[in-house]
Amino acid sequence: MVDARIAALTPAGLELEPGTYWWCRCGLSRAQPFCDGSHKGTSFSPVAFELKEKQSVALCRCKRTQNMPFCDGTHRTLGDADRKQTG
Ligand code: FES
Repeated sequence: MVDARIAALTPAGLELEPGTYWWCRCGLSRAQPFCDGSHKGTSFSPVAFELKEKQSVALCRCKRTQNMPFCDGTHRTLGDADRKQTG
């Protein structure tokens, strides 16, 4: 499987209202960290998540987290080859 594009090497820290959100899985969205439909034609699908109450979150933008959609610190372990994918 092709790796997702790294949208950024840091998470997006946001305070979100209760509701359902669609996290970009492919890394191509221009509305990071959320899906804008850019995954169409790829093997990726966005990841839905729901917040029951207002919450501060750190959403992964490197697309390598093992705890989608949340940052798990994996971005700190990415090497130079990974870093060249950003932009
Ligand atoms: S931004 Fe992806 S794990 Fe932190």
